[in-house]
Amino acid sequence: MTEKDFLPGVYQKSPDNGKVTWKAPSNIALVKYWGKKPVQIPANPSISFTLDTCATTTSVLFEKKDNNETLSFDLLFEGKPKDHFKPKIQAFLERVETYLPFLKEYHFTIETSNSFPHSSGIASSASGMAALSLCLMDIEKELNPSLDEDLFNSKASYLARLGSGSACRSVKGSLVQWGRHSNIPKSSDLYGIEYPFEVDPVFKSYCDTILLVHKGQKQVSSTVGHQLMHGHPYAEDRFEQAFSNLDKLKPILANGDLEEFIKMVESEALTLHAMMMTSMPYFMLMKPDTLKIINKIWQYREATKTPVCFTLDAGANVHLLYPSSNKEKVQIFIKDELVGHCENGQYIHDQVGSGAIKIND
Ligand code: DP6
Repeated sequence: MTEKDFLPGVYQKSPDNGKVTWKAPSNIALVKYWGKKPVQIPANPSISFTLDTCATTTSVLFEKKDNNETLSFDLLFEGKPKDHFKPKIQAFLERVETYLPFLKEYHFTIETSNSFPHSSGIASSASGMAALSLCLMDIEKELNPSLDEDLFNSKASYLARLGSGSACRSVKGSLVQWGRHSNIPKSSDLYGIEYPFEVDPVFKSYCDTILLVHKGQKQVSSTVGHQLMHGHPYAEDRFEQAFSNLDKLKPILANGDLEEFIKMVESEALTLHAMMMTSMPYFMLMKPDTLKIINKIWQYREATKTPVCFTLDAGANVHLLYPSSNKEKVQIFIKDELVGHCENGQYIHDQVGSGAIKIND
């Protein structure tokens, strides 16, 4: 599909008002997206596990208005007005208006809430932008009931990408790939697709415990972080590595090869942080407790031969990944050894999920 496919035809209906609600999960990348061209065209392909528990629920109420010249909306976050988030949503709506021409015809009330604790340092932009995009697509479907499901999902992912790159991987489950790759049919820079190759069942129920090492404001926003890949001395090699890692991942995912999976996932996380440490300006988002946790994971894996590994986003929190068959003993390890390194002892048990869902009121 190309950008043109996302321009709607003439709408068949014109409801006066209504309400839609969607719940979209967060996702955790195995091969990371880091570096982009405008607007959120990734410098390299990426792939992620869709999560389940960590999610954003968004309702959009829409009501016909008289003036069709401007965008108009109110924003409520966890029940309270949140003007602070408005500029980001305004910019997003302006960016997608060409693809959703009904936007200026209605006043919107956007109500959003996260399942995870506020300012836990977990990226809410992926789940938030995915949930909002799905709501907007659902409204478009009311205006154009013949909209088919494939187009609905691809366009929701396309719109989410325009809000935040990684958000395009939060529409479907359980493994989502984004970014054009010559060996992955139907892959696109414009939206995420369900990973089209064989995946061993072990990965369908993989667990992710998010260890909240540092809950404060991120030192660097991902937008600024991505920019630092322009002119970065190792950028081209890194982008090539991501392309090749997606090739290498194919037999690993098909065969459930956990040893190779662990090497790939940990190397990707450390490469992401190595890119941040070697950009100009440089920065370091790991905290001392991040490193302590990583060392404990390595020791535990060595001593018990349990296939646990870690990955990181652009922050200090650690995602501990392990097969669900190891859940009991790994969760004891977490309680005994890792919780002490988390801010206020906080962590979240999550697992691979099957994508966003519509909530019927
Ligand atoms: C480190 O999607 O947050 O989580 O496109 O600027 O909104 P923008 O960036 P964002 O970048 C996330 C990068 C990452 C890796 C990943 O999820 O692939």
